[in-house]
Amino acid sequence: MSLEDPVALYASKLYLGIMRRVSSGIDELDLLLGGGFLRGSNILIRGNTGTGKTILCCHFLVAGAKNNEKGIFISCDENHEDLRVSMSCFGWDLRKLEENEMLLILDLGRQRRYHLGRYHSDIKPICNDLIAEVETAFRQLNVQRLVFDSIDGLEAILGDFLMFKKFVFHFSTFLIDLGLTSLITTRFGSEGRKMSHYTGMELLCRGIVDLFLEEHGHDSKRVMRIQKMVGTRHTLRKIPYEILSTGIEISTGGIFEV
Ligand SMILES: Nc1ncnc2c1ncn2[C@@H]1O[C@H](COP(=O)(O)OP(=O)(O)OP(=O)(O)O)[C@@H](O)[C@H]1O
Ligand SMILES: [Mg+2]
Repeated sequence: MSLEDPVALYASKLYLGIMRRVSSGIDELDLLLGGGFLRGSNILIRGNTGTGKTILCCHFLVAGAKNNEKGIFISCDENHEDLRVSMSCFGWDLRKLEENEMLLILDLGRQRRYHLGRYHSDIKPICNDLIAEVETAFRQLNVQRLVFDSIDGLEAILGDFLMFKKFVFHFSTFLIDLGLTSLITTRFGSEGRKMSHYTGMELLCRGIVDLFLEEHGHDSKRVMRIQKMVGTRHTLRKIPYEILSTGIEISTGGIFEV
């Protein structure tokens, strides 16, 4: 086994228990994860629409910026300006982070419109440009955190299922090889069917965090669950949370005994 192989290096560090952890941006979640996400891992954030996936991702990038770790937000769902506006509700000034070169937002929907006009619906340039832009950001800007929001949005952008599936596999391997800590979002489909099932993202990702709404009579409560987290002893309990003006708040009562 060569330790120049990033996968072998990751496995040996995991085995030796010397992997460093990075903050999720939510203190209580960090406690439940033994300090945060493992550096260099890719985490799938699954949840229905409106459960707070994009907000969780912004917690993660803002926490990185506070720690002087640069981030990339690849947006397939919201355009650049909508994302800035919706996240400003939580006191996050994404524009300022971009101006200070702590954050790079790639609006994939906009790139698609550009390429479709230019290449007459050839989608390969979108995939190639994305890989090139992430690699450049990693090498030249020393980016350490990445958000991909969302896998379903990418499918809609690419419109070609086979190409989409191949790209998802290639891209997630590429992120691990670069050593970026990444959050990748996906929605559950109707009737509880997991949209990401057919991409195999559950197997490709080293962690899975689920966000869902639980029915309580006439009310619904927000609940989070850590479904999988390689190299981490974690609770399987449902973790109640709320979305407040400061973002996601986890109610701590009774969930800290693992
Ligand atoms: N200022 C705010 N204060 C409290 N809650 C808010 C605020 N703004 C939005 N929310 C809540 O956050 C939800 C949106 O969160 P978010 O955009 O992260 O969801 P999502 O899981 O990414 O959804 P989608 O799958 O549609 O992208 C809203 O539906 C609302 O319930
Ligand atoms: Mg979203």
